[in-house]
Amino acid sequence: MTERLFAPCPRGLESALAAELAELGAHGVTATDGGVGCSGDEALIYRVNLESRLASRILLGIGECAYRTAEDIYRGARALPWPLMFERRRTIRVAVAAVRSPLPSIDFVTLRVKDAVCDAFRNATGERPDVDTRIPDVRIHVFLDASRASFYLDTSGEPLFKRGWRTSEVDAPLRENLAAGILRIAGWTPGTALLDPMCGGGTFLLEAAAASLNIAPGTQRGFGFERLSRYDAALWRTVRAAAEAKRRPALALPIYGSDRDPRAVGATRRAFQRAGLDGVATLDRADILAVEAPAAEGIMVFNPPYGVRIGEQAELAALYPRLGDRLKQRFAGWRCFVFTADTRLPKLIGLKPARRTPLFNGAIECRLYEFAIVSGSMRGRRANGPAAQ
Ligand SMILES: C[S@@+](CC[C@H](N)C(=O)[O-])C[C@H]1O[C@@H](n2cnc3c(N)ncnc32)[C@H](O)[C@@H]1O
Repeated sequence: MTERLFAPCPRGLESALAAELAELGAHGVTATDGGVGCSGDEALIYRVNLESRLASRILLGIGECAYRTAEDIYRGARALPWPLMFERRRTIRVAVAAVRSPLPSIDFVTLRVKDAVCDAFRNATGERPDVDTRIPDVRIHVFLDASRASFYLDTSGEPLFKRGWRTSEVDAPLRENLAAGILRIAGWTPGTALLDPMCGGGTFLLEAAAASLNIAPGTQRGFGFERLSRYDAALWRTVRAAAEAKRRPALALPIYGSDRDPRAVGATRRAFQRAGLDGVATLDRADILAVEAPAAEGIMVFNPPYGVRIGEQAELAALYPRLGDRLKQRFAGWRCFVFTADTRLPKLIGLKPARRTPLFNGAIECRLYEFAIVSGSMRGRRANGPAAQ
């Protein structure tokens, strides 16, 4: 049976996610603000949960209704066959998101949808499911636009960027799907040298290593679909086995990471170990200004500290011009991608961005700046060539 699906993602990654979902076999792929709509069968639901590196969740469309009041939404939700979708013993949580909704209280809508689900169960079984707002078995999502409410079951459970291999030891780690999306936008492909000289918890490096070795990002975690009545354990085993068969044995890859903070390097090393990828990447403790190019060409990608504190801002303003010089001296032939919310960066680094891609890190509007590096002395001569900035 073909199902209607919606995959939310970090804003700015929609077209990259659309391409990825099409590669994974989704049909009718359409990018919209904040996510991608598509369709597919049960096997596709399992496959995209297991293999998508960019989606935040995979939501299964279960119904929609027109509304003017919260009671219209209650009636729309109450008409859905909830007791057929999951068992009464499952805990639930309802999440409502709204764009241009005229309703004064989203919390009230959340409450009324929860009531509708519980009333449907009470009517069918005499008992209602419990609510668990922390770790629910079943997550129900409602999306409101100006006049329509759409209801979804979350087939992912925990968001898909939780791969299950990172430790929570470092500050401000990027979400894994945002890091994977940045690698895709950068045009990085397995085999190309990758360097993150401010690696923090190693998110870019781990995503690149997993992609290089065809390791499905969901290998080490469970999914919401396993708690729905429609769950087909045999089909899931087949989908998992197909993904596992594509996996390559771990070997040393041209993936390089460093950070000036030894704790960050340690955290990255441990995350590689947890992922079963010990020794796959080369990791060092180093200041970014001391890093040498590990290959004649490649892709450098990093996200500097946000510079929220005043001292940090000044430190970054002093670092960037020196970094620009260092890149020109040591990284000719490389493409350098910097992901930051700091709009001073291009001016301070003294390089003209070849491209700037707007991307959101949660609610923070950021840019992915691309700099094509040509050496200081070569700049004039190559300015009109293919590597021109
Ligand atoms: C925002 S974090 C990077 C987060 C990382 N992308 C992740 O997903 O975990 C910035 C990192 O830059 C490092 N850093 C700051 N200044 C540095 C410098 N001059 N040289 C090398 N690393 C530096 C910090 O120690 C921190 O780990």
